[in-house]
Amino acid sequence: MTDYIIKDIALADYGRKELDIAETEMPGLMALRAEYGQSQPLQGARIAGSLHMTVQTAVLIETLTALGAEVRWASCNIYSTQDHAAAAIAASGVPVFAIKGETLAEYWSYTDQIFQFGEGTANMILDDGGDATMYILLGARVEAGETDLIETPTSEEEEALFAQIKKRLAASPGWFTKQRDAIRGVSEETTTGVHRLYDLHKKGLLPFPAINVNDSVTKSKFDNKYGCKESLVDGIRRATDVMMAGKVAVVCGYGDVGKGSAASLRGAGARVKVTEVDPICALQAAMDGFEVVTLEDVAGSADIFITTTGNKDVIRLEHMRQMKDMAIVGNIGHFDNEIQVAALKNHKWTNIKDQVDMIEMPSGARIILLSQGRLLNLGNATGHPSFVMSASFTNQVLAQIELFTKGDDYQPGVYILPKALDEKVAALHLEKIGVKLTKLSPEQADYIGVTPEGPFKSEHYRY
Ligand code: NAI
Repeated sequence: MTDYIIKDIALADYGRKELDIAETEMPGLMALRAEYGQSQPLQGARIAGSLHMTVQTAVLIETLTALGAEVRWASCNIYSTQDHAAAAIAASGVPVFAIKGETLAEYWSYTDQIFQFGEGTANMILDDGGDATMYILLGARVEAGETDLIETPTSEEEEALFAQIKKRLAASPGWFTKQRDAIRGVSEETTTGVHRLYDLHKKGLLPFPAINVNDSVTKSKFDNKYGCKESLVDGIRRATDVMMAGKVAVVCGYGDVGKGSAASLRGAGARVKVTEVDPICALQAAMDGFEVVTLEDVAGSADIFITTTGNKDVIRLEHMRQMKDMAIVGNIGHFDNEIQVAALKNHKWTNIKDQVDMIEMPSGARIILLSQGRLLNLGNATGHPSFVMSASFTNQVLAQIELFTKGDDYQPGVYILPKALDEKVAALHLEKIGVKLTKLSPEQADYIGVTPEGPFKSEHYRY
């Protein structure tokens, strides 16, 4: 029996060729295979992985299995799977459940699938955005009697999620609780998922330790920033082929993703404006040379609108009603609720191609909506390049090793990896791009209060 659901196994050869190339750009992951391949620190780990099923993620998966783990995988977004990467992973014998363009019902059933190990449960979660963690914790609460939690869905997403929970409850009573109790820890990839974890912990609802991978410096200050710098414009171009030079682009949010996104558009020659709510980030944007405006000011005049906030209802119906004909609207934050797409449902939609829609507003003006408001760099293009994902995923693997081998030392809560490991991740990526580090003399190290081997900065240093 095939233990996978993918688009087409015939794509496996193509996927494998791209994986081979990606490995040459992922020195951090390859170094971990060399360092830990013998000792097998993940032997016995049964990892439920929910993270965009791309070529880069395939190299992550094969690193986890090279270290001894059993893995089952799904994508954390309905549009982000690269079907050839999923095929290569399926052909290698790792169960994977991911199809680009899967439905929401399929999405949640695939999320359920990643926990269905032969032993009945996973013992680790590797999450991106927190959906896999939420699925188990919500199901366990319902099992404990809080049935009202899944009674009234407020969105299509919730409708599909609640239906899947009900299905699993009926098929295997007690399973969610058993599965929750078997989890030793979760490593979380992104800002939005990390927010969810801190919130759960604050409410006393996080029963296991979590490692916040996002806030490793070698993750958020690289993937979120330099990754989006490459992949945002890539997504807009593949979707629209629009000339970006000279156009006015608005980036909502100037955090790490916003900084990379604004740089991406500027690099393409667009005239970029930024909106922010935080005075520090607004000042940064201004001093980086961007005009800081409100969306109300520019809704009627800009050509391209991109949300990067991780917040909800940022581009609202009232803004889209003001936009000029053929304005491009997209989101690169984790969830699609940054743009009020649901409010457009009763408008006239024309599908141009996969993940590109043209929507006619009552005024007759049309907007081009990318990936229906879901993260467009993965929906319309192929996400970040391998090299930057190597840094992110090296943190992921280190976090999985830490939680699997030393989980008992941790109380439930949210932790970040120690700075020495963060510096190690960076160090593993220097040689590939020809970086030569300067060595501190013992006297210099002493003078600035560090050791010549590092860590080189205090915990509160902000990079
Ligand atoms: P961040 O917290 O560094 O930045 C978000 C910024 O948005 C903050 O500066 C905040 O003040 C601002 N903001 C919040 N509400 C706003 C509003 N109504 N209008 C204008 N600005 C507002 O977070 P980060 O790391 O930049 O992540 C942003 C989102 O992108 C998250 O959902 C994250 O999970 C996701 N992400 C997506 C990636 C991708 O490849 N598509 C990669 C990494 C993160």
